[in-house]
Amino acid sequence: MIELNFSNMMEDVVGVNGLSGGIIENFRDRIEDAHKQIQDRAWPELAFIDLLSQDTSEIKNTARHIRETSENFLILGIGGSALGPRAILEAMSPFHNLRKKPRVFIYDNVDPRTLKHIISLVDLKTTSVNVISKSGSTAETAASFLILWNKMKKVLGREASNRFIVTTDPEKGNLRKIVNEEGLRSLIIPQGVVGRYSVLSSVGLLLAKVIGIDSDELLRGAMDIHKKCSDSELWQNPAYLFGVLLYLMDKEKHRTINVMVPYADSLKPLSEWFCQLWAESLGKEEKGLTPYPSLGATDQHSQLQLWTEGLQDKVIIFIRINDYGVDIKIPDIFKGTEGFNYLSGHTLSELIKAEEEATELALAKAGRPNMTIIIPQIDAYHLGQLFHFFEIAAAFIGALFGINPFNQPGVEEGKNLTYGMMGKKGFGAKRKEVEEHRAKRGKWKVNKLNLSQCPHNCKTN
Ligand code: PA5
Repeated sequence: MIELNFSNMMEDVVGVNGLSGGIIENFRDRIEDAHKQIQDRAWPELAFIDLLSQDTSEIKNTARHIRETSENFLILGIGGSALGPRAILEAMSPFHNLRKKPRVFIYDNVDPRTLKHIISLVDLKTTSVNVISKSGSTAETAASFLILWNKMKKVLGREASNRFIVTTDPEKGNLRKIVNEEGLRSLIIPQGVVGRYSVLSSVGLLLAKVIGIDSDELLRGAMDIHKKCSDSELWQNPAYLFGVLLYLMDKEKHRTINVMVPYADSLKPLSEWFCQLWAESLGKEEKGLTPYPSLGATDQHSQLQLWTEGLQDKVIIFIRINDYGVDIKIPDIFKGTEGFNYLSGHTLSELIKAEEEATELALAKAGRPNMTIIIPQIDAYHLGQLFHFFEIAAAFIGALFGINPFNQPGVEEGKNLTYGMMGKKGFGAKRKEVEEHRAKRGKWKVNKLNLSQCPHNCKTN
């Protein structure tokens, strides 16, 4: 089971920048309200909790089919439809494509160079394409689907349809329509489950099975932590404690930035997944917590200076791994070099663990609040726990802020303006807005600015 150690968030350890048990206790009524909102399913999107007991037989059958027929597995999706699969891939099968088949590619952008590279690296005849989009209308995913569909049709003709697996809403959207019309293989993202809470649906579980990971273990881990995270008693509930500490750090101490620092390369994509969960769920109505992804021990040499002596606006969240599962001894050589001798005889896991503990302490000594999530090892069971733990915490913090942690109205405007520029029907006014703005932007450019013609009469000398 994952553990949360929050000693370094408390004033008796870090001094005035920490919180007291009393402040937390005084907050009990709000915590109970937030707990009630979750238990009563105040938002239908809390349906992500039901994923823990879903029937996974169709996902498993589909994964078996892909493994039997494919050398390459290409995911097309973005945001919650890609970050979760990538977190599972990297955590459970680092350097996957150099070691195993099917090779996995996750195309979660519309950068033409990346897609060109992927297409040049795979044989489309032996590639399965998993198009993932809950809404079925996201422009990036739609564009890459259209390109791949066209290319696969050219290479495989009618057979191409057998190489697509569409993961989308059970009833609605453009992709569901195409699934029905073309008779494509498909999986569902249950209604109510939104992108950034969907990693434990077919979105993440299919990829897990395709790369040979036990998806039942992901769900078992999530279910076990869920029991703890449903406890109404705050001091027994790690997700609520995590949430209330971060919330109070914002409200009481103006610490609005949450830095996520796993001490494992393979968990770096997990911290990116976490950042989306925090940013899209909590950043609204001029409230929220700003997430920022990092990596230990690597970023000790690029960011630690800022955390230790920069603005007092951050909480650092470490993920400590108790057992790396493998280890490498540091050899006893160059005996004459005093500066290396202390390392000899130790192992890399001893060193990385010492660095993590030392960084926690250095921050605590500098009065910088931090807390640590401890996982026994990186495996499917504990990865499932981490996903669900953060999801419950996000919903809980959203309730404390009094915002809806499941919508993302701030994403819409950019999408609508893009539709306008790309000529989508009904978005003509948006196109006009872009054109008007372009005219304003023309004035303030440094590369073409000729000072003799400066609108503010700046003179050249
Ligand atoms: O969390 C979310 O809802 C978003 O980040 C979506 O995952 C993202 O916008 C992609 O949406 P869709 O899966 O509908 O293509």
